[in-house]
Amino acid sequence: MSWYKRLAAEIVAPLIDMDAGELTAQMVRPPSPDMGDVGFPCFTLAQKLRRAPPKIAAELAGKITFAEGGVFECAKAVGPYLNFTLSPGILAEKTVGVAIGNPRHWGRSDDGAGKTVIVEYSSPNIAKPLGVHHIRSTMIGAALARIYRARGWNVVEMNFLGDWGTTFGQLMVAYKREEMKNPNQPVDVHSLLQLYLKFHEDADGDETLKDEAREWFLRLERGDAEALRLWKVFRDESLKELIKLYERMNVRFPESAFKGEAFYNDRMDGTIRRLGEKGLLKESQGATVVDLEMYGMPPCIIKKKDGATIYATRDLASAEYRHETYRFDKSLYVVANQQELHFRQVFKTLELMGYDWAKNCEHVKFGMLSFGPGVFGEEAATGSTRKGRVIFLEDVLDRAVEQARTLIKENARGDEVRANAAKLAEHVGVGAVVFSEFLQRRTKDVVFTWDKALNLHGDSGPYLQYTHARLSSVLRKGGDRPPETPNWKRLSTRLEKEVMLKLAEYGDALALAVKENEPSLVATHMLELAADFNRMFTDKETHRLISDDAELTSARLALVEAVRLTIATGLALLGLSAPDAM
Ligand code: ARG
Repeated sequence: MSWYKRLAAEIVAPLIDMDAGELTAQMVRPPSPDMGDVGFPCFTLAQKLRRAPPKIAAELAGKITFAEGGVFECAKAVGPYLNFTLSPGILAEKTVGVAIGNPRHWGRSDDGAGKTVIVEYSSPNIAKPLGVHHIRSTMIGAALARIYRARGWNVVEMNFLGDWGTTFGQLMVAYKREEMKNPNQPVDVHSLLQLYLKFHEDADGDETLKDEAREWFLRLERGDAEALRLWKVFRDESLKELIKLYERMNVRFPESAFKGEAFYNDRMDGTIRRLGEKGLLKESQGATVVDLEMYGMPPCIIKKKDGATIYATRDLASAEYRHETYRFDKSLYVVANQQELHFRQVFKTLELMGYDWAKNCEHVKFGMLSFGPGVFGEEAATGSTRKGRVIFLEDVLDRAVEQARTLIKENARGDEVRANAAKLAEHVGVGAVVFSEFLQRRTKDVVFTWDKALNLHGDSGPYLQYTHARLSSVLRKGGDRPPETPNWKRLSTRLEKEVMLKLAEYGDALALAVKENEPSLVATHMLELAADFNRMFTDKETHRLISDDAELTSARLALVEAVRLTIATGLALLGLSAPDAM
């Protein structure tokens, strides 16, 4: 919570005999700085004190005295609120001054010191190119990992690749059939897709092919050399492509994060044994399951009829591994809403296995991504890979970059921008797609349109990037770096205060993003900050940033730098770059 909320709470607490920590959470921001900078609502006291809230506010105001040079200048009753006003210069010093005095630390904290969080995200089924829907888990998860880290947590990233399963058997069948025609066929992610599509085309109505695929997968499970060799080629090729694409979106998993389903192969027996020892296993129609009827859920399948283990078993094994290895305080699974039941079953089963840490596992779910009409010519949905209708992430990024290039050509000012247009288009185009992930709370569905994603004047990534470039340009015009300690009292207009109060809330926004696993809160904060700043910026009459008044200019440039810094760090947390010119 903001420092000034805490300080106001510490003044009020002894007067009403309450705990300052509790009161801090109750503090609100008055609708306008003219009414004060932080307000204490007296409603909840009304019952306890048997008086009307406005009366209580007035009485409290009467009891408080302020010393010269303190943090607060005064407190007054405004209706049912007791509103405090910060002394001139204090707000600027504690926001702008702190930000530019220690830019690398701005927004950061050690809230999470000593605690470990596992953030599992992206986790695509590989051996085919990344579908566009994978961007959601990837960007939300990467942002969460960065935000937790900024708040002092020890973050362990995990990518639970779908690198095991019947798909691989299908690819092997298709590959072998092609190999007969063309013995030296190359393998890359695109030819794998072709193999995949070919298999489903041919297998449509041909049961023997499907049997063959199952046979190959069983060979793989039994450790057959040729099956393993092919599996490794398919996996390596897919992974190579995947990492290239991640790179484009500023996502870098450490090598050790890639522990896919296959990694848990030799841990399955142990997991199944422990399930058995706890008396949790039951036969059901030939399969081995954990009965969850008591908890209103269908059984969690552990082993299929043919003895093959499945998805849930692998999740159980990986959860055990993660806890054993990292002793996490929290373990997050950034996975689509659709898998809600799966995770409830897995977490419940972990609980039944006697793991008290099961309660620290959380499914961080998100809604569906789809495309508005016109984005892909026809009316596009997310499609399924099987029918070849999938929309690939790479294509979406390429198209976005193309659109950004046009946008930049139309708007670019200055030779430097034109010279860097290609690089800039990549940053803006990818940024546009990435930021769409954060425009609303994650559990909501996203409908992507170019108009929204690339709107330079609305709520979009490019809008923030553009604002950042404008701020950088003001700073360049202002000459040297702004002094770190200008006369803070000069930042005193209502609009300046609005901007600074927003700056003061930056750390709170990050803290809340951690608490709710909601990176969109960082996006919202930046958009509000940019709006507040632009309101001031466009009011040229009273807010000339650079003027003959050198003292005022210094103070205002410091404010500009603090806003720029906040937007730059916020964008970085979400995975976007912040161009200096646009
Ligand atoms: N590979 C899965 C898919 O693409 C997602 C994996 C989610 N993570 C997990 N631990 N189950 O649908």
